[in-house]
Amino acid sequence: MTKTPWLLLLSLLFFLASAAATQIKVTNNPADQLVAALDNNRTAQKLKSLYDNPGLACIALEYIKAYQGDCGAVGGPNGKKPAESEFAQTFAPDCGVLVSTLSPITGRLLGCQSHYVDPSEAFSGILMKNNKSLEIISNKTHTEVGAGVTGTDGGAPYFWCLLFSNGNTSSSFAVEEGVAKVTKPGCFSGANDECSGAYDWSQTRRIWPFVATALLVVGHAFGF
Ligand SMILES: *[C@@H]1O[C@H](CO)[C@@H](O)[C@H](O)[C@H]1NC(C)=O
Ligand SMILES: *[C@@H]1O[C@H](CO)[C@@H](O)[C@H](O)[C@H]1NC(C)=O
Ligand SMILES: *[C@@H]1O[C@H](CO)[C@@H](O)[C@H](O)[C@H]1NC(C)=O
Ligand SMILES: *[C@@H]1O[C@H](CO)[C@@H](O)[C@H](O)[C@H]1NC(C)=O
Repeated sequence: MTKTPWLLLLSLLFFLASAAATQIKVTNNPADQLVAALDNNRTAQKLKSLYDNPGLACIALEYIKAYQGDCGAVGGPNGKKPAESEFAQTFAPDCGVLVSTLSPITGRLLGCQSHYVDPSEAFSGILMKNNKSLEIISNKTHTEVGAGVTGTDGGAPYFWCLLFSNGNTSSSFAVEEGVAKVTKPGCFSGANDECSGAYDWSQTRRIWPFVATALLVVGHAFGF
């Protein structure tokens, strides 16, 4: 048997796998899904849903990055919190958010876990674990929210962050040229995008076993 059909088949396989990966990514942004879970909870309580502000969401992603992947620094007795000044000095400039449009942060929720879960499960199982969480998400003074999700270097641990503000939804956290800077890795909400080029952990894990299995099957068929 010649090598050509085998190579053709292999190329086709990789083409199909990457096409599948691309297709899934477009419909999948865990940060947007986290905001959807939040809004479901609020509207079920007869509270208004919140404006999903991409500038604020990008800042939520930068807020996560301030932890440098250290899950142990989230909550608990050794918990730390980025300094207030970091919003104007680091987070906003990194996102291209105009510092003059920063508005008060009226709530923040941050969670970290070593394994990836669905956004709705991250909402109810990780972020809502704290007794104060329900109070925070149900506060009537919020007008807008931003969500950030990341895994360090595209892997564990996974951070989930919601930042709330009572800012003017049409003018706060405004971004230069109308587009929040993409800051990899990670996803942020509100930008109507396919996860800002973030590594799509959950889906990739499902696709690679498929490719590996397919290769095995192909291998057997060709008598390797
Ligand atoms: C709502 O949030 C504001 C701003 O953070 C705070 O001052 C107020 O106490 C909160 N209200 C409730 C009911 O938690
Ligand atoms: C909102 O979420 C909290 C925490 O997961 C849950 O206890 C509560 O029942 C939810 N409320 C509604 C109305 O869905
Ligand atoms: C949450 O509140 C319940 C009842 O008020 C209490 O038993 C529990 O220890 C609290 N949990 C935390 C993490 O504070
Ligand atoms: C919100 O911002 C817009 C645009 O800058 C402005 O026209 C409007 O008056 C502001 N609304 C409030 C309530 O401050």
